[in-house]
Amino acid sequence: MPPSIPPPARILYSAESIATRVRELGTRISCDYAGRSLVILTVLKGSFVFAADLIRCIDLPLRVEFLGVASYGSGTRSTGVVQITQDVTAPIAGEDVILVEDIVDTGLTIDYLLRQLKTRGPNSLKVCALLHKPSRTEVEVSIDYLGFTIDDEFVVGYGLDHAQAYRNLPHLSVLAAD
Ligand code: IMP
Ligand code: MG
Repeated sequence: MPPSIPPPARILYSAESIATRVRELGTRISCDYAGRSLVILTVLKGSFVFAADLIRCIDLPLRVEFLGVASYGSGTRSTGVVQITQDVTAPIAGEDVILVEDIVDTGLTIDYLLRQLKTRGPNSLKVCALLHKPSRTEVEVSIDYLGFTIDDEFVVGYGLDHAQAYRNLPHLSVLAAD
């Protein structure tokens, strides 16, 4: 990574405010699924930090799975054409699955994944997203557990990247416009 990478412009959510919100989500999930066990299906790469914190706030038996996806499109624009590049290690049929996403932007990626995953016969399938940009919606997706609703700005940090950089920031920042 080049050392000249510009610093993000402005902090949107501090590490502390993210931690508070993630705890709230974990508590809600723990209540909603009480007495059951979960599959936390994490969409790589952007969601790995969020998922790592979220599972430690869920007081239920669970297993973690990862789904690698590559979307074809130019720049920061999603096309909705998604390829699963890494699949789960065990079937999700009959399981209670929560799909964990970093951000729902146009909704095209999550909509595609939900349609694919439903064909595998999970007992239930819900979505937990850290961020949602409703102003960019192209496909309506119901987000069952949502961290924050944000404006149409490109955000990095806490697992989210721009050209693979910034994932290690402990907070969420807005990237300066070019
Ligand atoms: P969608 O298919 O348009 O909903 O795109 C979702 C994916 O685009 C996310 O999972 C992210 O990987 C990426 N993405 C969308 N907006 C941002 C952003 O502001 N920062 C970083 N990645 C983003
Ligand atoms: Mg993503």
